[in-house]
Amino acid sequence: MFTLPRVMGHRGAAGAAPENTLAGLRHAAAIGLSWVEFDVMLTGDGVPVLFHDDMLTRTTGHAAPMAGTPHAVVRTLDAGAWFHADHAGEGVPTLEAALAEVLTLGLRANIEIKPTPGTERETAVAALEVLIRCWPPDRPPPLISSFKRASLAVALERAPQWPRALIVRRPPRDWRRAAVDLQCSAVHASARWLSKRRVAEIKQAGYGVAAFTVNDPSRARKLIARGVDCLITDEPALILTSVN
Ligand code: G3P
Ligand code: MG
Repeated sequence: MFTLPRVMGHRGAAGAAPENTLAGLRHAAAIGLSWVEFDVMLTGDGVPVLFHDDMLTRTTGHAAPMAGTPHAVVRTLDAGAWFHADHAGEGVPTLEAALAEVLTLGLRANIEIKPTPGTERETAVAALEVLIRCWPPDRPPPLISSFKRASLAVALERAPQWPRALIVRRPPRDWRRAAVDLQCSAVHASARWLSKRRVAEIKQAGYGVAAFTVNDPSRARKLIARGVDCLITDEPALILTSVN
């Protein structure tokens, strides 16, 4: 049976190191975190990389869409300088490089499939190909999560043995049907929509509950008291000490 951890680093550890970078993974391991979440998207020529936005602008300064940019260009971008000068030169990692780092560091990974519009299946197929090739069968499995049901359907087809989580902001009316159809183990929802009643409803249906993105210690404690299993946070060091 799959069990969520109490705390998971968001985009690595996005408050302490540039999001979706190897530096973030290293920071998470250095503070004793066991799990990280990161986003996987395809470059214009189909290489799965760690990235959040459809546009490259915010974290790299390169004003172009990820979906229109080949990996030969993405690999030259600086995804660390915007965060802090100390991280200048930090690149946009491929999923393959990130998995190698995760495995070296002994982290567990919540891999969010984050397709650019219209690439829900394609992104999941490419990510699962890398995951199946790189993830050692004797290591505890990754968690595959997505807002996109078509992406989770690919994960179910290709790696049915790995746990899946349905991500929602506000749980929609049909969340339970989707969780059943996609054989999910958990529902990850925006903390603002996780009332006590909602948490109880999801837990009673047999699913783990993770809340994102929780960076405030008192809010973290309230969510745990409400029955939330896992807090996905930019500030894992702070939240770890607040709820343990
Ligand atoms: O996995 C939960 C969270 O990462 C979803 O939101 O936009 O930060 O990927 P976002
Ligand atoms: Mg994410």
